[in-house]
Amino acid sequence: MAVQINPSILSADFARLADEAKAVEGADWLHVDVMDNHFVPNLTLGVPVVESLARATDTPLDLHLMIEAPDRWAPQYVEAGASSVTFHVEAAAAPVRLAREIRAKGARASMALKPATPIEPYEDLLPELDMLLIMTVEPGFGGQSFLDIMLPKIRRTRELIAKHGLELWLQVDGGVSESTIERCAEAGADVFVAGSAVYGAQDPAEAVRALREQARSATANASWACDH
Ligand code: DX5
Ligand code: ZN
Repeated sequence: MAVQINPSILSADFARLADEAKAVEGADWLHVDVMDNHFVPNLTLGVPVVESLARATDTPLDLHLMIEAPDRWAPQYVEAGASSVTFHVEAAAAPVRLAREIRAKGARASMALKPATPIEPYEDLLPELDMLLIMTVEPGFGGQSFLDIMLPKIRRTRELIAKHGLELWLQVDGGVSESTIERCAEAGADVFVAGSAVYGAQDPAEAVRALREQARSATANASWACDH
């Protein structure tokens, strides 16, 4: 699969979301961070804003739910217009049931791991998912420094995906920029969330193109991608 770049609107101007979505029209997805001030110490937006944003842009919405009780809320985000919904395994009461419900409602189902959450206990769940998100910062805020110590987890997850022959996408989120994206791609990520690196740039659309090019060439040289 080709690499994908998902700008995070957490770093955009929330009063101009439709324009900010247009500013990155070449992006594969728009990454939307939902925070409830319980699962993470920050508060962003909810279902009504997602409904409006889905009407305002043709770019598919990649929802990242950093909330408690995702079992209750995730299906509502599919109905609001999300094409992909990511819940945190640390918050989900029944991750398999929830992933199946998201898929049944017509969206891609994705599960996120905080930095201290290992992948190994979830190996058997991977076929239930369309994407796995490995957080490369502690979730809650944009603009944090990339955690290099997550690279081995990305590598091990890529090995599990290959071992089971899955089509699973592997997303990284947090501190992804022109100075870290190549390391992520080499380790095995293929979907890259970037907030400050895109919306902090003079030209956000150009930043998306540049990140995509870097990720593409790093992937072309990566051993995990050459094996296939
Ligand atoms: C952080 C969010 C990220 C955030 C990334 O908890 O999940 O999506 O927007 O921002 P940057 O790319 O600036 O680290
Ligand atoms: Zn996010």
